[in-house]
Amino acid sequence: MRILIGGEKGGSGKSTLATNLVVALRLAGRDALLLDADGQRTSAKWAERRAASEIVPAVPCTEKRDDLKAVVRELGSRYQDVVVDAGGRDSRELRSALLVADLALFPLRPSQADLETVPHLAELLQLARSLRENGAPLAGLVLSMAPTHYLVSEARDAASMLEALPDFVLAETLIRERKVYRDALLSGRSVLEMDNETAHFEVRQLIKEISNGAIQVPVAQRDPA
Ligand SMILES: Nc1ncnc2c1ncn2[C@@H]1O[C@H](COP(=O)(O)OP(=O)(O)O)[C@@H](O)[C@H]1O
Ligand SMILES: [Mg+2]
Repeated sequence: MRILIGGEKGGSGKSTLATNLVVALRLAGRDALLLDADGQRTSAKWAERRAASEIVPAVPCTEKRDDLKAVVRELGSRYQDVVVDAGGRDSRELRSALLVADLALFPLRPSQADLETVPHLAELLQLARSLRENGAPLAGLVLSMAPTHYLVSEARDAASMLEALPDFVLAETLIRERKVYRDALLSGRSVLEMDNETAHFEVRQLIKEISNGAIQVPVAQRDPA
């Protein structure tokens, strides 16, 4: 699967999602690669920390800027899965990746500023689909960094607005605001390799959802420490 993770906002959890998904796919036994196309290099730096700490499974990571079509096609023929972190703006990276991805995922915080980017994402998506066949790429919205407190209804309110949109599927899985996601990013890990069952569940559910149940992520081995 060629999975693009993009959007038009910084800080919505794109690199967090990319790094967690690529580890989850690896843990599921798939030959998955991370492609960082964002000049901020958050995913690439995460991969460097992971490699420096020799965390298993190792995650191959490569970087590319500008037009991603050729590199995604080429990597897509060598790896079972390519997870592309395309960064958070309307860019050549995002537009070109939309032309070759099977699935585009757009993490959004349940905030007005993030939700306001969706109409333009829909335009970019429609443009890409007009140049491709069979409605590709599939596109999913993922609510991310949602408040954990049950009385805070922002995520519910955002979801009821987003699920009505024709161009996207709204993921049922919510990624909540949890410190463990920050700790994992800093340590070169996925939350699947950290001690937080609720976060494990979120990532495993999301993988299940985007693969229509075809990919099941086993519970990861923890570091003895
Ligand atoms: N679900 C989450 N819970 C808590 N912190 C998160 C979550 N997702 C991302 N973060 C933190 O928010 C910041 C921005 O996330 P990042 O994935 O780098 O966003 P983006 O790639 O969209 O700019 C990072 O410090 C990251 O650790
Ligand atoms: Mg990022």
